[in-house]
Amino acid sequence: MIYLDHAATSPLRKEALECMRPFLESNFGNPSGHYEIGKIAQLAVDQARLTVATCLGARPQEILFTSGGTESINSALLGIGQAMHRAGSGNHIITTAIEHHAGLHASLWLEELGYTVTYLDCDSSGKVNMDALKKALRPDTILVSIMLANNEVGSIQPIAEISELLKTSSIKHGHRILLHTDAVQAPEWLSVNTKHLGVDALSLSAHKFGGPKGVGILFLKRGTPFRPLLVGGGQEMQKRAGTENVAGIVGTATALEIANRGASERSKRIGELRNRLREGIEQKINGSYTNSQAVDTLPNILNVSFEEIESDELVARLDEKGIATSTGSACSNALWEPSHVLLAMGVPIRRASSSIRFSLGDDTTLQDIEHVLKVLSEEIQLARLKRTDA
Ligand SMILES: Cc1ncc(COP(=O)(O)O)c(C=O)c1O
Repeated sequence: MIYLDHAATSPLRKEALECMRPFLESNFGNPSGHYEIGKIAQLAVDQARLTVATCLGARPQEILFTSGGTESINSALLGIGQAMHRAGSGNHIITTAIEHHAGLHASLWLEELGYTVTYLDCDSSGKVNMDALKKALRPDTILVSIMLANNEVGSIQPIAEISELLKTSSIKHGHRILLHTDAVQAPEWLSVNTKHLGVDALSLSAHKFGGPKGVGILFLKRGTPFRPLLVGGGQEMQKRAGTENVAGIVGTATALEIANRGASERSKRIGELRNRLREGIEQKINGSYTNSQAVDTLPNILNVSFEEIESDELVARLDEKGIATSTGSACSNALWEPSHVLLAMGVPIRRASSSIRFSLGDDTTLQDIEHVLKVLSEEIQLARLKRTDA
């Protein structure tokens, strides 16, 4: 199989698996236990927290382990939103129309609770307009949540610049306006240093960077008002109750360290393969439209629409030939809905429903790309012929 769906999930790194193994096989201790195996488990979680904090330019006390990207994002929006509101700072939140559903649905939940949410549109390159953000800021704005990199088209948002704008606005409005970013797609490709980004909260998901599924990271800057979403035991510094997933946490830290260390070399190498894929498609396949921009975009994502093609049919055809890709659509209630991201970018509905996403990974090779280009152009030709015959 040629796997080009790394934005959906990535293979577990063998180094991560190796350091998880003892906690899956023999050391089953609960980190809260006051005996040998409990203490070893606690030590492993502490060490993992330190590793993650170092990768994020943070303090260990600012790192919470969660059950995944979704929980981290839900917790950031609901936890910070509710704590800021309780402190009397306001109830207005700004986000974007292109967030992952984990963010969009948390925002809808906040609206149901009586908060006001502004959803910023983006331009045709998938970037948020800074003037629109400036205009949306109000005296009662408490939180801005904007993703660092989009999972469907790869567009990168200017988070450090947004942070500077919010600092000025916070002074003007006399209270803090906090900044959260969904950085789930970033670690293998970009720096996720929270100091350089200037964020108060940042969400990650381990399985997107070679870690295990079901583990997330939430960075919460010291002093950030936060109301826990999960309550019960006092784990994670009273901010996220529940017995720790020790093996998962240990594997997450190892995977993040590797992802972080190699990000710039990997970005260059994989970016070149992605560019070859883009050029090959443009040269070989008539009626193709690239929805991912060449600049300010993750180096591993390429979203393309093909005229007279249904994306689910093409994904199925490629799957039959051993190539895993994904549609730019979300399947809900058995209906294929065009991607909310492409629609927000102004892509016409017809073109949005003929889009597919290729997302490359550390293990993708030039031979893979050349093979995909060959199969892709053959399958598109066949699909178009079938359509003409019908
Ligand atoms: C940008 C982005 N945010 C959040 C998530 C949710 O992460 P998880 O599946 O780990 O809950 C994803 C997963 O696709 C994502 O791509």
